Amino acid sequence: MSDPLPRSRVKPILLDLRFPILTPRLLIRPAAPGDGPALYAAKVESLVELRRWMPWARVEMSVEESEQSCREAYLRCLAREDLRLYLFDRETRALVGGSGLHRIDWEQRIFEIGYWVRKTRVGAGYVTEAVNAIARYAFGPLEAKRVSIHCNASNLKSRAVAERLGFPLEGVLHNDDRAAGPEVSCRDHAIYARTSSEGLPPLDVSW
Ligand SMILES: CC(C)(COP(=O)(O)OP(=O)(O)OC[C@H]1O[C@@H](n2cnc3c(N)ncnc32)[C@H](O)[C@@H]1OP(=O)(O)O)[C@@H](O)C(=O)NCCC(=O)NCCS
Repeated sequence: MSDPLPRSRVKPILLDLRFPILTPRLLIRPAAPGDGPALYAAKVESLVELRRWMPWARVEMSVEESEQSCREAYLRCLAREDLRLYLFDRETRALVGGSGLHRIDWEQRIFEIGYWVRKTRVGAGYVTEAVNAIARYAFGPLEAKRVSIHCNASNLKSRAVAERLGFPLEGVLHNDDRAAGPEVSCRDHAIYARTSSEGLPPLDVSW
């Protein structure tokens, strides 16, 4: 049998992406030069909760290193390798948290959404609003075929975001959470995924 025809190669760097994404309360855009001080402040405020679940937060970072991290994220976004997004309060312009589209496969149009919120903004629905918008953006202009959310099975607040947005649970991988730190005893890894935006809660969103 002959080999299948080669797939047309996507050149991610040539993809035009429109930002910001606007929701009723949030302006969502890629990390950019100048975001370092705001990232540092949000991270310091939220260190305990972030370190429990996010490997990147376990590394000590100065303001300068936070700025470096934002500039590196900006470059990766430009190359379309990884889209780190920050969530800003539309009224005050304060940094509310972070999200993004990661582990991107542009050929297959597969994306993974991650998220965190700063301590003073927990419990107000900002992440649910942002992930709803980002999933719509992925299935819209990015033509996603699959958008997944991966979390430690014991991270109930994270799982609640996926479940509130109707991401079906595909399964739990046991003893398979490489991101879990030594302080997390449950290392099971829950995977939620959607293959379309159908059934996402209604949201006023534009880009
Ligand atoms: C996971 C995490 C982002 C969840 O934060 P969160 O504030 O609970 O999530 P949301 O912003 O969507 O807010 C939902 C909460 O606000 C409430 N809420 C208020 N207004 C709301 C609205 N308009 N829409 C949705 N929820 C609303 C919900 O009832 C819910 O509260 P509850 O937990 O008491 O039921 C946060 O715990 C976090 O940053 N953790 C550390 C990093 C992390 O674990 N990231 C995930 C890795 S996979």
